[in-house]
Amino acid sequence: MAATSRLLPVELSKAGFITSKPECCPQALNSAVGLRRLLPSHSVQQQKVANNVAGCLPTSFWGKQLPGERKQVQVGRAPAPRLQAVSIRASSDGDKGTIAVAGGTGFIGSKLVEKLLNEGYKVKVLTRSADKAKSVFSGKSIEIAEPHQWNQALAGTTGVVNLVGTPIATRWNEEVKADIKASRIKTTKRLVDAINALPQNQRPKAFVSSSALGYYGISDTARFVEDSPSGNDYLAQVCREWEAAAKGVNGPRLVLVRTGIVLDKDGGALAKMIPLFQLFAGGPLGSGRQWFSWVHRDDLANLIIEALENPKYEGPVNGTAPNPVTLGEMCDKLGQALGRPSWLPVPEFAVRSLLGEGASTVLEGQRVLPKKAQDLGFTFKYPEISGALRAIVAS
Ligand SMILES: NC(=O)c1ccc[n+]([C@@H]2O[C@H](COP(=O)([O-])OP(=O)(O)OC[C@H]3O[C@@H](n4cnc5c(N)ncnc54)[C@H](OP(=O)(O)O)[C@@H]3O)[C@@H](O)[C@H]2O)c1
Repeated sequence: MAATSRLLPVELSKAGFITSKPECCPQALNSAVGLRRLLPSHSVQQQKVANNVAGCLPTSFWGKQLPGERKQVQVGRAPAPRLQAVSIRASSDGDKGTIAVAGGTGFIGSKLVEKLLNEGYKVKVLTRSADKAKSVFSGKSIEIAEPHQWNQALAGTTGVVNLVGTPIATRWNEEVKADIKASRIKTTKRLVDAINALPQNQRPKAFVSSSALGYYGISDTARFVEDSPSGNDYLAQVCREWEAAAKGVNGPRLVLVRTGIVLDKDGGALAKMIPLFQLFAGGPLGSGRQWFSWVHRDDLANLIIEALENPKYEGPVNGTAPNPVTLGEMCDKLGQALGRPSWLPVPEFAVRSLLGEGASTVLEGQRVLPKKAQDLGFTFKYPEISGALRAIVAS
């Protein structure tokens, strides 16, 4: 392997865009020269490196979304019969009902399914692959439905959660961007059509559909709450369309969870950052001043369950911790939690050279606050980044 192909991932990993390649040599860590050498190169090698780096992107890549529709939540819905805001807490006989989770095999979904089962719900996992679901939930008592069974599986459920979407932490091209959009919007429409096709008395009472903080666009200065306007970039547009697709649901109470950067050990951004820090190579990408609106995976799963159960949840709800940090602070705190230093930032030009259009999602962020959840009394177990990281590292 050419020397440059090892240097670059390490350099970029400083932002937490960690490459998971432990072969990165320590000497490479402070070599901006290696990075420069790589930039002019093209082709397969560069593509590989870029993909490697992109795969390390913190979830701001996930998170950009689209212009808002807080009020559109109502507008987009068919005026037709809507169930009232009904609680789906346990009935008197203790039966909490069944929740269908599309995308339940993923990073967020697998934690949610575990919590739902612990809380006494029956769970149906809607997946493209029964084999994958069986392997993820080995030993767990769930029902599994592949796409041709989704319509039937949704009938009579108490609530439906939509967590589907192809990963966005990759180097974008037109094909990838089309897939990022289609995997979310088409699947959401598919779920909505299936719910709407059910007889009224068979429809779920609540539909909790994921969106992302990219809805708000990017800013170093603004504070975004649920009624803030949407941004103008690609991810903001994706999120608007994603939310608009969910708003087509007719009957269930709809909650749109604008999810932040989800942190836990076995997936998401941290799974890529931690190994890098352990190699003494963690540090922010770009200035480090960009906002990093994070949420612990436990809190997000609890928030989704609250959104299913509590009839006061309706429309957009920010799924972020109450105390966002800058990426620089995030890397400092992660370094502290791991007992490792946080390295110098990776220069912006390098990130832009590698990621092109997608770089802005890494180099810029947004400060998103969970106003609605807090107004409704939701308690975050991990409100501060230090506590969240300490818990994750210790787990
Ligand atoms: N993780 C974050 O930090 C974060 C931040 C903001 C927003 N979100 C959003 O939250 C949702 C869940 O995130 P996650 O981190 O749990 O994602 P994940 O681990 O990648 O899981 C997403 C699930 O979606 C399904 N899926 C993947 N590609 C698909 C495709 N092309 N077509 C249809 N289904 C596909 C997969 O389920 P099957 O293979 O079983 O079908 C997969 O398990 C996503 O919509 C994501 O955009 C996540």
